[in-house]
Amino acid sequence: MTTKGEQSFAFALAAILLVVGVVCYAAFPQKTPEEPVRLLFKTTAGKVLLDHKTHAADEGYGVACDECHHEEQEDSSSCSGEDCHGPDSEPKRSDALHTNCKGCHEDGGAGPVECRACHVM
Ligand code: HEC
Ligand code: HEC
Ligand code: HEC
Repeated sequence: MTTKGEQSFAFALAAILLVVGVVCYAAFPQKTPEEPVRLLFKTTAGKVLLDHKTHAADEGYGVACDECHHEEQEDSSSCSGEDCHGPDSEPKRSDALHTNCKGCHEDGGAGPVECRACHVM
């Protein structure tokens, strides 16, 4: 059995928590992930360095975000999300990146296409 007093205390508490929750949600909006400057991918064939900033910048190679990040993603730009290029997905991550990176370098006649020109370390 609960008393009326206990019940209204519970309601009051719930109301307060709701307000606190809403305020906190509004005060700390979800941060969009920072755009990386450089990314180093470690692979079994040697490390690959992607100059992310220069690729994307207009004064760099001017590659649009969605030429690489081809799917709308809510809170991450990772290539290996669950429905993306994870280990069990087709194409898997390394194939997707090879196609995307090498593909543009080949088509544009600029940028490395030889294994060792990307896998430099
Ligand atoms: C040349 C291809 C390319 C271009 C152009 C590019 N990105 Fe990326 N970006 C990548 C790759 C590859 C990663 C690494 C993703 C991973 O490790 O799964 C990455 C990572 C990121 C990350 C970090 C993701 C995370 O979850 O850690 C963000 C944010 C991001 N990119 C945003 C952008 C935005 C915004 C633009 C356009 C201004 C852009 N990118 C342009 C290829 C690119
Ligand atoms: C849509 C086109 C495009 C895509 C996609 C792309 N690149 Fe490039 N990349 C370029 C261009 C243009 C250059 C500059 C070539 C030059 O000036 O000699 C370049 C140069 C490079 C270089 C040489 C060093 C440097 O930074 O200048 C590396 C390494 C490289 N890219 C790696 C990658 C990787 C890894 C990916 C995939 C994650 C990728 N690129 C995707 C267009 C692209
Ligand atoms: C344009 C740059 C580029 C070129 C050229 C390139 N790679 Fe890669 N490679 C990458 C990137 C980016 C990854 C993915 C790194 C990651 O998953 O974080 C990768 C991944 C790999 C992996 C790891 C696969 C895995 O499943 O772990 C191997 C092995 C590999 N590359 C071999 C090669 C060989 C062999 C060649 C030449 C035929 C080559 N790569 C050419 C950029 C390149």
